[in-house]
Amino acid sequence: MWPWLLLLLPGGFSREFSLKDKSIYFIVVDRFARDDASNVSYCDETADWVNNTGGGYCGGTLNGIANHLDYIQGMGFDCIWITPVVESNGYMGYDAVDLWKINRHFGSQEDLRALSKELHLREMCLVLDIVVNHMRPLVVKGKLNLSLVPFDQESHYNQRGLENQSFEEYLLAWPPPAFDPSADNENLRNLSMGSKVCGPGVFEHTECACFPGNSGPNCPSFSEKDLSTGYLGVMGDLNHSHPFVRQTLLRWVKEMVQNYSLDALRLDTAIYLERDFLPEIQAAAGVEILGEATVNNLTFHASLQGESGVAALLNFPPFYHLPEAFCGYRIGGVFGDYSMQGTWLDKPNLWGLGAVLQLQLSSDFYDHDLLGNFADNHDEYSRLAHYCKQDTLRIQQALVWVMTMQGIPIVYYGTEQGLDGHQSPSNTKGQDALRESLWQTGYRRDTWQYLLLRKLNRLRRLFGSSRAEIQNFTENTLVFTRADAWVFLNNAPNTTQLVPQRYCPGPEPGAGWRWIDALSEEPMDAYLAGGCFDAPDKFPKVLVQRTRAPVLL
Ligand SMILES: *[C@@H]1O[C@H](CO)[C@@H](O)[C@H](O)[C@H]1NC(C)=O
Ligand SMILES: *[C@@H]1O[C@H](CO)[C@@H](O)[C@H](O)[C@H]1NC(C)=O
Ligand SMILES: *[C@@H]1O[C@H](CO)[C@@H](O)[C@H](O)[C@H]1NC(C)=O
Ligand SMILES: *[C@@H]1O[C@H](CO)[C@@H](O)[C@H](O)[C@H]1NC(C)=O
Ligand SMILES: *[C@@H]1O[C@H](CO)[C@@H](O)[C@H](O)[C@H]1NC(C)=O
Ligand SMILES: *[C@@H]1O[C@H](CO)[C@@H](O)[C@H](O)[C@H]1NC(C)=O
Ligand SMILES: *[C@@H]1O[C@H](CO)[C@@H](O)[C@H](O)[C@H]1NC(C)=O
Ligand SMILES: *[C@@H]1O[C@H](CO)[C@@H](O)[C@H](O)[C@H]1NC(C)=O
Ligand SMILES: *[C@@H]1O[C@H](CO)[C@@H](O)[C@H](O)[C@H]1NC(C)=O
Ligand SMILES: *[C@@H]1O[C@H](CO)[C@@H](O)[C@H](O)[C@H]1NC(C)=O
Repeated sequence: MWPWLLLLLPGGFSREFSLKDKSIYFIVVDRFARDDASNVSYCDETADWVNNTGGGYCGGTLNGIANHLDYIQGMGFDCIWITPVVESNGYMGYDAVDLWKINRHFGSQEDLRALSKELHLREMCLVLDIVVNHMRPLVVKGKLNLSLVPFDQESHYNQRGLENQSFEEYLLAWPPPAFDPSADNENLRNLSMGSKVCGPGVFEHTECACFPGNSGPNCPSFSEKDLSTGYLGVMGDLNHSHPFVRQTLLRWVKEMVQNYSLDALRLDTAIYLERDFLPEIQAAAGVEILGEATVNNLTFHASLQGESGVAALLNFPPFYHLPEAFCGYRIGGVFGDYSMQGTWLDKPNLWGLGAVLQLQLSSDFYDHDLLGNFADNHDEYSRLAHYCKQDTLRIQQALVWVMTMQGIPIVYYGTEQGLDGHQSPSNTKGQDALRESLWQTGYRRDTWQYLLLRKLNRLRRLFGSSRAEIQNFTENTLVFTRADAWVFLNNAPNTTQLVPQRYCPGPEPGAGWRWIDALSEEPMDAYLAGGCFDAPDKFPKVLVQRTRAPVLL
């Protein structure tokens, strides 16, 4: 068990906080809201990853977030997850320069404390993103630059494979010897040329999600040693076996939680840390950690949660299938290159998602209430609206999945405004395209996405932390239950939205109650027969037992 901290909240009551039953709105601090609301020009600046001088700031701030909490709470979210706030090179914040300072582009220590306090007054919660695997790239403008706080010594960084070279020469001989993505590169090249099979029939997506340097035990490049002591791209990879590094990071994490009354942490690049360091970080934090575990192998994924890992995990295994399941989009580009887009298949296919979920939900190795479900994020190639080609029906199916599946629903900022990353076919901006500004939308609260998310946040409160169980899945349908509710999803295109859809199994009509679709608030008993549900149309359906229709709006 985790050593829970009793948090004393400004509201004057204490509680034992857990992410269980919470929903999260995920914010890229630099892109969500400016202090000065007068400039609403669209912004999607890119950072410099050639000379590693970072930059790319658009002007979003911590105060900007604090000023828009009504907007977020109005959609019904419990928590916000914000990207790292320590002083960093670039606008994303995952390339820290000084762990003891707050990024001056975002605000001050007081601003972060004020944001935390304001959230708690609203009975909302703050999840802060932290990076302990690495600092910013050590090579800046072609030269070794160790002006980093507090890790300013060569010995603080991994040096495996360094021979009779200087540390600078070692780093300049890109890629650093400790990291070798070539087998994954070759594997992906082979896959893209069709010599291996991947896709929905290979439900662990065994080799299809082996992005170079982002791999699990089933990938050609996998090596536990490489993951923990190899460099993650150009980032300055910390040596956690160095006593000063390890002890300082543990102290830093504890102080961040205390100084800013954080409710939980999101831990970046968790699979790249030494395995025995994960539970130490979890214990030092004293609040739940939601780990980024970019792997598809369920055994490996589950092993990162619990006593030898962290409390909660981002749920990557189903995520890797989700774009294909609902929208026929296979993430990963041609060679798993982050500057490439994925590819659209002729048809979507729910088989892979259904199979992974069935296996995952039947596994005792997971704490299913602490898996963070999502449909897109700031890294993985495409926003939901883009990969679904703006098909509102398919976008709805994916959002209903995120919000009703067992676990912690996580929605990426801008989904409610239909942001699509302005991706061009050539996608010259790569990942930067996924992080566009939000202010140009005017923070409207009447978009269909905003209203749907609000409804779904209310709906999920009916479920509590009840178990989800997969009842059936086919290429085109997914049926699961949560407590006594039934969720029916499909991947049909919007042109067929008024065509009936048969799902089996379905619930039996009850005596003394009616089955209501909580989304349309229409009674559905007339469509239940013979153990199946002959839905009148293709819109997602969530059937709940009620003597009256629940009022969700
Ligand atoms: C408004 O924002 C745009 C995009 O970030 C920027 O180019 C421009 O300089 C800003 N204008 C002012 C007056 O700050
Ligand atoms: C990197 O630095 C060189 C030399 O100073 C400069 O010519 C180039 O434009 C820089 N590239 C980027 C992406 O900033
Ligand atoms: C080293 O990097 C820091 C930013 O992290 C920068 O401010 C400084 O100018 C760099 N030093 C040199 C000599 O380039
Ligand atoms: C990490 O640091 C330890 C102790 O300082 C050292 O023995 C080890 O070789 C270093 N590991 C790497 C990969 O550089
Ligand atoms: C290290 O020294 C050996 C012997 O002098 C030499 O063969 C080898 O190429 C050197 N390695 C590097 C990386 O310079
Ligand atoms: C890629 O395909 C070639 C030719 O079939 C094969 O020799 C090689 O082992 C494959 N590479 C990987 C990583 O599977
Ligand atoms: C999945 O990971 C486990 C270790 O966590 C490993 O034993 C197993 O071989 C992996 N599965 C595949 C298909 O590679
Ligand atoms: C936390 O606050 C204390 C007291 O102000 C300060 O000494 C310490 O540096 C802070 N720690 C962090 C990680 O900001
Ligand atoms: C329907 O889907 C197509 C893409 O297949 C898209 O272009 C169109 O905007 C969508 N319309 C609605 C109302 O969802
Ligand atoms: C699952 O769906 C398929 C296709 O509709 C159907 O043939 C099969 O009977 C269903 N399975 C169950 C258990 O209802």
